[in-house]
Amino acid sequence: MKETSYVHGYSGREALRLNDQANTLDQIIHNDTLFAEGSLVLEAGCGVGALTKIMAAKNPGSGFISIDLSEDSLSEARNTIRSLGIKNVEFKQADIFNLPFQENSFDYVIVCFVFEHLDKPLPALKNLKRVLKTGGTMILIEGDHGSTFFYPDSIYAHAVIDCQIILQKQNGGNSNIGRELYPLLKSAGFSDISVTPRMVYVDAGKPELVEGFIKNTFTAMIEGIGDKATGLGLTDPLTFNRGIKDLYRTAEPDGIFCYTFFKGFAIKN
Ligand SMILES: C[S@@+](CC[C@H](N)C(=O)[O-])C[C@H]1O[C@@H](n2cnc3c(N)ncnc32)[C@H](O)[C@@H]1O
Repeated sequence: MKETSYVHGYSGREALRLNDQANTLDQIIHNDTLFAEGSLVLEAGCGVGALTKIMAAKNPGSGFISIDLSEDSLSEARNTIRSLGIKNVEFKQADIFNLPFQENSFDYVIVCFVFEHLDKPLPALKNLKRVLKTGGTMILIEGDHGSTFFYPDSIYAHAVIDCQIILQKQNGGNSNIGRELYPLLKSAGFSDISVTPRMVYVDAGKPELVEGFIKNTFTAMIEGIGDKATGLGLTDPLTFNRGIKDLYRTAEPDGIFCYTFFKGFAIKN
């Protein structure tokens, strides 16, 4: 994937969204991102370091090498980690399809919200498996837009989500990849595969998720593709804005919002 084809772009707003997403989902997705003392972890596609800062702080006894294609994102990630005084992370510009590491180098490889952007997820996974030690653990985390439902329901809101799914597909990615983690891990020859759904259910009883997930993570992501979607004629500005309004409507006191992420653990034999 070239930097320019990353569907959400590399803007400051997207960096903010990635941080909101990681902080909000910490308990639901990252609560069991725990590594053995003394282990070496490769984080592939670290972006602006939203997950890096959470897991490096949670696992002070592990060392992290965090890679990304984008030098701009890496530089933001370096600043964040430095400002937090975290010392166990090294950043490197590298491509998952051309990894600059020896075979059998890492105890764990973790990849979060990256495979949805790749046109060749299986070769990517096989590359990552090569640098994982025998007996090491692969961890994959992805969302699945097909898992989205909400109240009040709205055809306009579903239509703007569909715009995102189509754009992602046009870029060679797959917004519904969460359901494919098990088959991918199986095809790549991993054993002891365990995939669990991580459902985010939000209603007004969870005000931090109303803000952090419905508004700042999910709707912000869809809102961010408005220009591309209307520019390509997938929708018109009026219909797009109606869909976004209806997504925000689910954040009102009587609304609910549901989305499922998937997290897979697997062992290299
Ligand atoms: C949605 S961001 C996820 C960032 C981070 N993992 C998180 O959870 O916030 C996806 C990142 O994957 C990176 N990426 C995409 N393809 C890549 C590749 N082939 N090699 C390395 N990084 C890649 C992009 O540059 C982008 O920063």
